[in-house]
Amino acid sequence: MSSVAEPVALRETPVVPGLPFIGSLLGLAKDPAQFFVDCYRTYGPVCRLSVLGEKYVLMAGIEAANFLGTREGKESLRSKEFWAGLVNEYGATKILTGEDGESHKQLRDIMRNGYSKESIKGRYNELVAITDGAMKRDWPVGKDIPVVEAMQYMVVDQLGTILTGAAPLEYVKDIRTTILYILNVLVTRQRPKILLKRPQYKKAKARVFELGEQMIANAKARYGKIKPEERNLIDDVYAAHVEQPEVMPENNLIVTLTGPYVAGLDTVANTTAAIVYTVLKHPEVKARVLAEVDALFAEGDVDEDGLLKKLPSLQGAIMETMRLYPIAVAQMRTATKDFVFEGHQIKEGEMIYIGTSVPHFMDEYYPEARKFDIDRYQKPRAEHLKAGAYSPYGRGPHTCLGKSLAEVQIALSMARLFYKLDLELESPNYVMKTKTAPTPGPAMDFKVRVKGLRH
Ligand code: HEM
Repeated sequence: MSSVAEPVALRETPVVPGLPFIGSLLGLAKDPAQFFVDCYRTYGPVCRLSVLGEKYVLMAGIEAANFLGTREGKESLRSKEFWAGLVNEYGATKILTGEDGESHKQLRDIMRNGYSKESIKGRYNELVAITDGAMKRDWPVGKDIPVVEAMQYMVVDQLGTILTGAAPLEYVKDIRTTILYILNVLVTRQRPKILLKRPQYKKAKARVFELGEQMIANAKARYGKIKPEERNLIDDVYAAHVEQPEVMPENNLIVTLTGPYVAGLDTVANTTAAIVYTVLKHPEVKARVLAEVDALFAEGDVDEDGLLKKLPSLQGAIMETMRLYPIAVAQMRTATKDFVFEGHQIKEGEMIYIGTSVPHFMDEYYPEARKFDIDRYQKPRAEHLKAGAYSPYGRGPHTCLGKSLAEVQIALSMARLFYKLDLELESPNYVMKTKTAPTPGPAMDFKVRVKGLRH
């Protein structure tokens, strides 16, 4: 027997038919998650498509999700091009999401503590108080509340206080506008560049820069004066700037310091808004969630130990919502070299969608995948544990750095919201509309009525 491996015959990669020039834009814009599932079902784990004259490879399914975490995946894919527009717009040279390899590791090491669950250790009750304040301000009894917007204010309040030491509520509108334009035009590229010339965007961006300058000034004033255990994300980033200026040069500070808002605002706001819908839409789920949250807060202050374990139904509802309403339907990458995936040749420089959410919608992994079933995640079913089947926080080296922080933030916010407020949908038959830009999630006009206070 020869010890030399036989070359594997390459497969011809199917091409998704599309309209002249716009290609597959309509399918993608309408429902990207469904579009990728349809492609996977029709063509298998790899196909080629075009959007607005640009050619893309789609790698999808558990095969692609698992590939992101392999050595071959790490060596074959990079994120730079996807984030380059945002980096340039800030006059920066690099950001965490756009780096790979050693330089990515350096940045992730600097920010690991600040973004970790540790950053809210001992502060759960403070998070509850911030959430209560946001509800008092933005969720008045008797009113119809635009849920995504109200959640955006809540998130800035929470992340601002916990991660950066101050909640810049007067900048929320500017942060929202800047992120909206940047994500739409420069990151997901669903809107034309000309929009960045609009005065509305320019004004908002200038205000975000002003906020960034304030954050730098605050961090500078604190540098060297605070105890290591009191350092927050901003302190760590500033210390890196002083101590390793080659890794964190001056021109990268603003984009890095205002990063928590880019990373957390839309993601958490869209997800929590979707959870409001799914829980209210399913009365049997709502009853279970209310019983749990009433028991949790009956004793007053929240005990941090094992918080999520005390809320199995809410946790199931959160995980199920993140499966069915993923904010990151696919991850965008560029091929760093020629490589073969599932028998298909991918060429250096090709732009790639990694459809990690495709398995979320497959009956093979989630029987009756379209059904909202909060008990899927309990043992022995544990349907999400099949390798590659569940990726709401992404996969591989860029897996969400704020994941465990977000898990606590989301669980505690939702627990408090359902404990405090008696909410109802417009009608039991109400079906929530969704949006795809800049991030997939509930439409901005999704509203719920605050019928009264429960506690
Ligand atoms: C519903 C909540 C959230 C979801 C679903 C989510 C999802 C994701 C996903 C899918 C990625 C990977 C992007 C890629 O590979 O291209 C990511 C990256 C990241 N997320 Fe989150 N995220 C959430 C909340 C947060 C929060 C609250 C923070 C912190 C404030 C955060 C911080 C980050 C950071 C810093 C990265 C970049 C990691 C890297 O590039 O190494 N995320 N997130």
